[in-house]
Amino acid sequence: MLTKTWSAAIQGIEAYTVEVEVNASGAGNDTLVNVVGLPDTAIRESRERVWSAMVSNGFFPPEGRTTVNLAPADVRKEGSAFDLPIALGMIGACNQIDRGQLQKTMIVGELALDGTVRPVNGCLPIGLHAERCGMKDLLVPSPNASEAAVAQNINVYGVDNLQQAVSLLRGEEQLEPTRIDVNDLYEQAAGADNIDFADVKGQETAKRAVEIAAAGGHNMLLLGPPGTGKSMLAKRIPSVLPRLTLDEALEVTRVHSIGGFLEKNQALITERPFRAPHHTVSDAGLLGGQTIPRPGEISLAHNGVIFLDELPEFKRNVLEVLRQPLESGSVTISRAGGSSTFPAAFMLVSAMNPCPCGHYGSVQRPCRCTQGQIQRYRARVSGALLDRIDIHVEVAPVQDQELLNRPDGESSADIRSRVVAARERQNERFDGDGVRTNAQMTPSQLHSFCEPDESAKSMLKNAIADLNLSARAYDRILRLARTIADLENEKDISAQHVIEAVQYRSLDRQSW
Ligand SMILES: Nc1ncnc2c1ncn2[C@@H]1O[C@H](COP(=O)(O)OP(=O)(O)O)[C@@H](O)[C@H]1O
Ligand SMILES: [Mg+2]
Ligand SMILES: [Zn+2]
Repeated sequence: MLTKTWSAAIQGIEAYTVEVEVNASGAGNDTLVNVVGLPDTAIRESRERVWSAMVSNGFFPPEGRTTVNLAPADVRKEGSAFDLPIALGMIGACNQIDRGQLQKTMIVGELALDGTVRPVNGCLPIGLHAERCGMKDLLVPSPNASEAAVAQNINVYGVDNLQQAVSLLRGEEQLEPTRIDVNDLYEQAAGADNIDFADVKGQETAKRAVEIAAAGGHNMLLLGPPGTGKSMLAKRIPSVLPRLTLDEALEVTRVHSIGGFLEKNQALITERPFRAPHHTVSDAGLLGGQTIPRPGEISLAHNGVIFLDELPEFKRNVLEVLRQPLESGSVTISRAGGSSTFPAAFMLVSAMNPCPCGHYGSVQRPCRCTQGQIQRYRARVSGALLDRIDIHVEVAPVQDQELLNRPDGESSADIRSRVVAARERQNERFDGDGVRTNAQMTPSQLHSFCEPDESAKSMLKNAIADLNLSARAYDRILRLARTIADLENEKDISAQHVIEAVQYRSLDRQSW
């Protein structure tokens, strides 16, 4: 007796259909289940789980030989999400579930040995896919029901265990489908940010640099001794970036769904991500990897901020691999099982001490490092990566007493409103060019939109000569000056804008 049901797997950021065929031939004396279409270890483990879950719940595999086929067979799939559809297909093969019902249902879920349904990754794209395929119902583990129900035109049922799934398909148990109003969730989340720049006292220069970085989409590096508030500043950057649009929020949520990073019952991420991987992170952890490619930190930071604290401590090759995604806004991972592309348009914020001991240039504590140590430390950050960082800002220590007395800083909402206005100017300028921020300008756009006036030009020449700035600093300064002018709603780049921009190139100065 042949039974068919549907499941789904993830490739990159999309889901595709997996057909689960169960053929209970009844031949042979021993009860035997063969699974084809999965890697060997996955098959073995899945068979054990399915068998045990069925028996624990009082269901017995069909007598004689049963073959389970997962198609397409040639695509490498992960095993655990097919446990539930395999079990339900086998129960259907014994006439214990109506086959017509199984035909219009898509099913994913891992089974524990006692029949509990465990959460699986990627239920948001699976929900949207099932909807597109015209499925009537989708069964998912109950912790994943909310994300799956982002798909509005399909009945999503969250199930807790095998018994409940069977009762549901038999029509013995009435379950309410999970309903999510995505627009409502998005609207409700407005203004829900809970960390705010108002907490940061003083540090006006650093905050100004953050505002410029956010306005122009510039990557930045915070330089300063420990305890000066670099991490505190970095964490607050998402709160001044423009709010995610609903489409951007859905992109972010999709990546988190695939990585298994959504909270239980979470349907939509509405705040820009902030990811801070430790400096011991591997290539795979940062870029994404494993046999079946999974999103890494840079994809989890998509549409948000990735914070690399202690930048010189990261392995050099790890930093090198950031260059390509910084250019393209996406990352492609090639594996034997096929290649996958994940979105990775993030703002890079990094921090480092001025020297290995951290106190170089500090008036409070002497630096104990030799010149050689300091040079080696700084040289660990490759020039190629620095080339993608427009803003370097020195974060000086604030005195304890000063911290106590200072009034609160300006709120994130106020800073954000200026950032949004500057972004609107950029949108008008780059209308339809595929570039959204000054940081992404091509060399020819730089040429046409960043021509400084005469006094600005001579100012820039002098600054380059006086401060001994490298040649690559020139374009960076113009880019930044463009953003500074946009924040002031000025059409032309003036000497004033250039003077400010020059301050944000600390690392280009030969004597820093
Ligand atoms: N400007 C500031 N305003 C308020 N608190 C500050 C400020 N700078 C530092 N702090 C306090 O000092 C702590 C350490 O700052 P942190 O951001 O971890 O420094 P860093 O990352 O530079 O080592 C913060 O958690 C915060 O409590
Ligand atoms: Mg820190
Ligand atoms: Zn030192």
